[in-house]
Amino acid sequence: MLESLANESAAVSIRDVSKKFGTTTVLDDINFDVAQDEIVVLLGASGSGKTTILRIISGLEMPGTGRVMLHGKDVTNLPARLRGTGVIFQSYALFPKMNVEQNIAYGLKLRRRSKSEIRKTIDRLVGMVHLEDHRKKYPSQLSGGQQQRVAIARALAYEPEVLLFDEPFGALDAQIRASLRREIRKLLKEIKVPSIFITHDQEEALELGDRIAVLNSGRIEQIATPYEVYTNPATEYVATFLGSANIIEGVIRGRTFQSEEISLEIPSDYDFRDGQPAKLVIRPEDIFLRRPENLMQNYQQLTEGVVEETSFVGAFERVGVRLPTHDGQRLIATRPKTETAAFQLYAGQRVTVGVVRFRILPDLTRLPLHANRAV
Ligand SMILES: Nc1ncnc2c1ncn2[C@@H]1O[C@H](COP(=O)(O)OP(=O)(O)OP(=O)(O)O)[C@@H](O)[C@H]1O
Ligand SMILES: [Mg+2]
Repeated sequence: MLESLANESAAVSIRDVSKKFGTTTVLDDINFDVAQDEIVVLLGASGSGKTTILRIISGLEMPGTGRVMLHGKDVTNLPARLRGTGVIFQSYALFPKMNVEQNIAYGLKLRRRSKSEIRKTIDRLVGMVHLEDHRKKYPSQLSGGQQQRVAIARALAYEPEVLLFDEPFGALDAQIRASLRREIRKLLKEIKVPSIFITHDQEEALELGDRIAVLNSGRIEQIATPYEVYTNPATEYVATFLGSANIIEGVIRGRTFQSEEISLEIPSDYDFRDGQPAKLVIRPEDIFLRRPENLMQNYQQLTEGVVEETSFVGAFERVGVRLPTHDGQRLIATRPKTETAAFQLYAGQRVTVGVVRFRILPDLTRLPLHANRAV
């Protein structure tokens, strides 16, 4: 593989990075940049290589091939302590004999900042991570979430060139996670520290990242804005890993996608060969189960179906619809409350199934025409 050129203006550039442990390839030709004020989220299943990427950037691990550049400087052979990366791992290591303030101040003292500057920075960081009431406590007196927030404040106190977060919110409950990630995003945007964030949590990835890199078995399947990755997933893996997706297998015929009685006109920006096997990817919220007369969006009728079940899931209703295909393929649709109130559905009801948005991916596996997956 040719060495790709590093982007000079990027804060972080990862070029052609591969890594093997023994004979197992865990990273395969990883390439991406992080801009100065950007948050890039690495999203992927357990074992996909997320932590290994962060360890290579921070210098805790050497890549087998490839380079790591920080602000245009090749740091591939630089030891970890000379790189200026702030790492926040899930198993954060706070100094047990120092209280919250002392933990945060540690790096500032090493850098011989003045007392008044240290005081100001502590006040600001303690406020930022909402630990005002706990500033004199020791780590053993703090909850896991509070310790985590100390770790974040302490890393920020070093004013690192890049912040690397390895599932820092992993141990926190959902509500704190949600508010903490909003704070962290706001904070990172203020201080303009480039950041790379690892998470398993798709909602977290969507909300936190300026861009999301979806990793699958050591390869980046797609890197793009949350909107782009969600709306235009590059692969079936991305479509089903980030959000739910209905998958219908079929074939391209002229300018249409065909699967049994389904026939969808495909947008002109697709470039497919006639006869090419393809997969239709439809998000549950893009399935429309009413007559489209009053719909202001693009709409295409897919087929007729029968409601199998409806279930209430908080903010929306989930509807299972059986299609009249030879194998009785099942689609999952979700409907907002405005819709469920105006138009009730019940099991056994016949409905027209339409789509307002969809994506078609080439099917390189050429599986027989029967798979359907709705997560
Ligand atoms: N030091 C090591 N020696 C051998 N194999 C390793 C080593 N470190 C990681 N691996 C393997 O490399 C692969 C990627 O590991 P990594 O920790 O990067 O995954 P991850 O995406 O961070 O997973 P998780 O979400 O579970 O933290 C795994 O299969 C792991 O077992
Ligand atoms: Mg990991």
